[in-house]
Amino acid sequence: MINGKKVLFSGMQATGSLTLGNYLGALKNWVNLCDEYECFYSVVDMHSITVRQDPAVLRQRARNLLMIYIAAGIDPEKNCLYYQSHVSGHAELAWILNCFTYMGELNRMTQFKDKAARHADNINAGLFTYPVLMAADILLYQADVVPVGIDQMQHLELTRDVAQRFNGVYGDVFTIPEAYIGKVGAKIMSLQDPAKKMSKSDENPNASIYLMDDPDTIMRKCRRAVTDSEAQILYREEQPGIRNLIDIYSSCTGKTPDEVVKEFDGKGYGDFKTAVGEAVISVLKPLQERYAKLAEDKSYIDGIIKENAEKAGHTAARTLRKVQRKVGFPDRIRS
Ligand code: TYM
Repeated sequence: MINGKKVLFSGMQATGSLTLGNYLGALKNWVNLCDEYECFYSVVDMHSITVRQDPAVLRQRARNLLMIYIAAGIDPEKNCLYYQSHVSGHAELAWILNCFTYMGELNRMTQFKDKAARHADNINAGLFTYPVLMAADILLYQADVVPVGIDQMQHLELTRDVAQRFNGVYGDVFTIPEAYIGKVGAKIMSLQDPAKKMSKSDENPNASIYLMDDPDTIMRKCRRAVTDSEAQILYREEQPGIRNLIDIYSSCTGKTPDEVVKEFDGKGYGDFKTAVGEAVISVLKPLQERYAKLAEDKSYIDGIIKENAEKAGHTAARTLRKVQRKVGFPDRIRS
């Protein structure tokens, strides 16, 4: 509890361009939670270097991501928005938790297996222990709730297991976090292959809608989305392409999948795809406009970066000190 409220933590990588999947699966759900929870949203730049990055590009993307958080409607006065690398406690706690995580557990992580296959020339130890750093992110703030898309569930389960193991040895040190998964949009699929999730790292640019795509591009990608030859708009597993478009439409408009099916009863795929394109544009356009304004206000963003890093650091230090004492590190001598 902080200020009488439960704590919420989430983060995104500043790698590649954010997709509609990141927005509908995570970011969109982050807005307006700050009345109920004390919210920490991190730009997880330390996770990003598990694959090679160009330093200048990473620095710029990290800043852009912070501005996207704000442009998406997350108020930086009421939520703590900060860079993971600005709070050294993440790395310090990750080291301790590494000593409470088994190789076998990390070996089972599907994201590690995927990334190791894609970056076979750079299967570094950081890529392997990535979920432990993620556990440290969450546990450092004693988060009760973690809003994520379905693809992060396995990492969250591991976080809970490690926290419970640590608590089993040292008493109630960590809060055990719960996942918060949105009702629709928790797994947005590729527009070109609805069996795969929409991903920043997809090589086919038509597979993903990027948050900064212009309206024409968004419409073109929606119209080209791979569907089927059933010629009926139904929400069912046998039609994964249409089902994904229904998820996108329903998540953008707030309508339920059932309502969407009724709305498009008897209509053709062409009309439906156009409606999906329009719905996505109407969600992303205001975000892009706010982002463009923020990008001009350097000193405002700098102020947020500075203040929020201090606030996050303060909360993180409290947990870290407690953990260090529990595992037996000597107290610092203060003069
Ligand atoms: P990342 O950066 O890959 O994704 C950020 C968030 O977007 C969600 N997401 C999706 N949701 C629906 N459909 C999709 N196609 C889709 N693609 C991505 C992800 O589930 C995620 O919520 N390891 C994390 C970042 C992280 C983190 C944390 C998250 C680091 N520490 C602590 C929560 C708490 C990651 O790489 O997310």
